[in-house]
Amino acid sequence: MEYIEPEIMSEKGFCTERKPDPCGIVIFGASGDLSNRKLIPALFSLFKRDLIPDHFFIIGAGRFPLDDESFRRKVQDSIISAKNPSQSLVQPFIDRCYYISGNYNDPVTYTKISEKITIINKNGPKHCQTIFYLSTPPSVYEIIVRMLGTSGLVKKTGPLAQQSRVVIEKPFGHDLSSAMALDKSIRHYLTEDQIYRIDHYLGKETVQNILMFRFANAIFEPIWNRRYIDNIQIVVTEILGVEHRSGYYEQSGLLRDMFQNHMMQMLSLVAMEPPASFDANDVRNEKVKVLRAVRPFSLKCEENCILRAQYVKGESDGRELPGYREEKGVAPDSQIETYVSAKLMIDNWRWKGVPFYLCSGKRLKKRLSEIAIVFKEVPHSMFASILPSQMSRNILVLNVQPFEGAALRIEAKSPGPKWCMNSLNLEFRYRDVFGQDPPDAYERLLLDSMIGDQTLFIRNDDMEVAWSLFTPVLDAWRENSEYHPLYTYPAGSWEIAESAKLLSPGERYWRL
Ligand code: BG6
Repeated sequence: MEYIEPEIMSEKGFCTERKPDPCGIVIFGASGDLSNRKLIPALFSLFKRDLIPDHFFIIGAGRFPLDDESFRRKVQDSIISAKNPSQSLVQPFIDRCYYISGNYNDPVTYTKISEKITIINKNGPKHCQTIFYLSTPPSVYEIIVRMLGTSGLVKKTGPLAQQSRVVIEKPFGHDLSSAMALDKSIRHYLTEDQIYRIDHYLGKETVQNILMFRFANAIFEPIWNRRYIDNIQIVVTEILGVEHRSGYYEQSGLLRDMFQNHMMQMLSLVAMEPPASFDANDVRNEKVKVLRAVRPFSLKCEENCILRAQYVKGESDGRELPGYREEKGVAPDSQIETYVSAKLMIDNWRWKGVPFYLCSGKRLKKRLSEIAIVFKEVPHSMFASILPSQMSRNILVLNVQPFEGAALRIEAKSPGPKWCMNSLNLEFRYRDVFGQDPPDAYERLLLDSMIGDQTLFIRNDDMEVAWSLFTPVLDAWRENSEYHPLYTYPAGSWEIAESAKLLSPGERYWRL
């Protein structure tokens, strides 16, 4: 497949990345894993791509005692362990990094941050935006925003309101009421325009590509509905287990960790109506609208349904893998789910009767994230010996990971004199066509937060609708565990047999 230079679009400036105005980013939890593995390498990559303004700073903030020099060494290490560090740019980048240590509930920490910003900005431009990035445990989100507000680092009105934003990592709350309480509390100090609730799946190139696929091609949208689509399958499976995150995972589980956010975000992009424009609110209005049409789960597993499982001891390539309950920091009788599959229905004109199958799990055999649009079978077969049901269905697969791209399965004639039919893929892989892997999701999202584009961030109503779908499920799992068993699967396996129960027997199947 060939890449065609987007000449016309560049003329319109559509393809041009915008460099943000002067700004700085304060990362709370800067000595943590997310900052080291994702945020710092993503900021450095933007720097390399000349998408960081000349006046820019990073202030790491956290409880861990570090000074500027040791923080700079840490930053350097995370850049070096990332791909392609471009040595000559490392020093100018780390020169822009500073560190403040202190407790999140101590006003002195915020005074120190404020003084540092004043010093850095002293000889800089008149206006400098500050982005406060909360990469801490969620238990301190509320206190950090309160302290930012009371210390005057963020304001809802006046010039400072235009110059301060807060990016909040997931999970935003652990159920509907805690999410609403957190939202209410932070809105004392921030307007919705200043709040950037991040879901890194929205920063993934192929997830954004859903919008281009659907709305920049004339051929897909007319068939993107119940008349032509049989079912839609959204799958995110991981080889990794909980690793060193058992403390967090024991409070969270897969439903909160993946479904309420990443899975529902992908679903909303696939299923929403065409927005009037690419404006942040137009796109987000449509996403919320479709989530509101998702039918609440039937906990008796009738038409729509959700079920959970946990990995037990297993093996991969001859290596023994521990069960979830044997992982360090996990309770020996933990009821936390590491796998969830669901069949959900969307009650609107476009999707009535089309099941959406969603599944996500940790410690499975393969790492795979994909969205498969399975089309209906042909209405009639003119090939006498082959029934319509014997022909493979057309499937459009949007590959999110590990090989970003897309494939359309079609039926074609095999070469030769006979009328033999074969399925083949019209396939595109991002790397083959563009000659490189797509940028990391955090690059896109950090850049957008600096520019002030909220399109790929989650609005409060979006977050609330998703929680209101899953909170009754979490309650039922907790309160009626005898009716909602926690199934098990061997670590490293590809056994998702339980999911099959969700499907109408003989009619549909998991593509996996
Ligand atoms: C995170 C979850 O949000 O997404 C992790 O907290 C999960 O548990 C990760 O492993 C998956 O992200 P990705 O980008 O590796 O698919």
